[in-house]
Amino acid sequence: MTSAPSTTAAREHDEQVANAGAYEAVIERLSKASVDKHWEPYRDIPWDDPEFLVDQADPRWELPEFDKLGGHPWYRSRPPEVRAMIGLWRVATAMKIGLQFENLLKRGLLNYAYRLPNGSPEFRYVYHETIEEGHHGMMFQEFVNRTRLPVRGMPGPLSVLAQVAPWIPLISTELFFVFVLGGEDPIDHVQRKLLKDGRTHHPLEETIIRIHVAEEARHISFARHYLRNRVPRLPRHRRLLLGVISPIILGVMARIMLAPPGPMIRRFRIPAHVVAEVYLRNPAAKAEIRDSVGRTRELCGEIGLINPLTRRIWKAMGIWG
Ligand SMILES: [Fe+2]
Ligand SMILES: [Fe+2]
Repeated sequence: MTSAPSTTAAREHDEQVANAGAYEAVIERLSKASVDKHWEPYRDIPWDDPEFLVDQADPRWELPEFDKLGGHPWYRSRPPEVRAMIGLWRVATAMKIGLQFENLLKRGLLNYAYRLPNGSPEFRYVYHETIEEGHHGMMFQEFVNRTRLPVRGMPGPLSVLAQVAPWIPLISTELFFVFVLGGEDPIDHVQRKLLKDGRTHHPLEETIIRIHVAEEARHISFARHYLRNRVPRLPRHRRLLLGVISPIILGVMARIMLAPPGPMIRRFRIPAHVVAEVYLRNPAAKAEIRDSVGRTRELCGEIGLINPLTRRIWKAMGIWG
């Protein structure tokens, strides 16, 4: 008899070591990049420069025609200062929800790092990420303050429910990084689209988004490499469970990130039929939700989280491609 099984095992072991080496090299590269290229909101953003001041009636806040709400006849028939304020309200709400999500994320990252063993390369990177998210939180809140709009973040009950998120790493670090991508990917999708839409943006908004997109690229890369490294090695039953829960988390989170703010609807008395036409019955709104999780969906396929059963959950959540 040949010693095929042990040879295979040895080869598998070699591959695992090679993969582990490549994975650790990526983490080291990300850590180094965090030192070489990072921004600080109170050093790198000229908040008090006259060009950067926020005026609620600035026409640059108006939503463009190609926007789902911006193109609706109800919106177009509002006076210019109301159109500008609605646009600003939406930007400020996205930043407020973003900073709340990142607050949960930071606490989860610290819970994850708390238990890491000495010498773990993830420890340093996760601290870099936590510090960067600290800067993002200050940057987003400073923007919200300067709009002087009474924006709220997540709706109250959801905010209460969200308090379990920082504890997910204690149950499953893989599930936690799916949650991370569930928030970061839709935000990144929307922000990149804005930078490429060819319009003139307010310089404060543009600066904040450019800084955010640049640093988020590393966070998203870390989460993706972490999942690629860990998920294929999970026992089958845990991988199946992760495959069932992931599309539920991703579907809910994409909606939280992209849904219309309730206080804005009430404040501007946006009629129910307009909300339904723009956000609920609109194929473009549904496509946006699907597209915003596109990269994470591909990753889930790649690491074995999609099978005929879990695909049905992706479809039921409205996020299947
Ligand atoms: Fe961030
Ligand atoms: Fe991030």
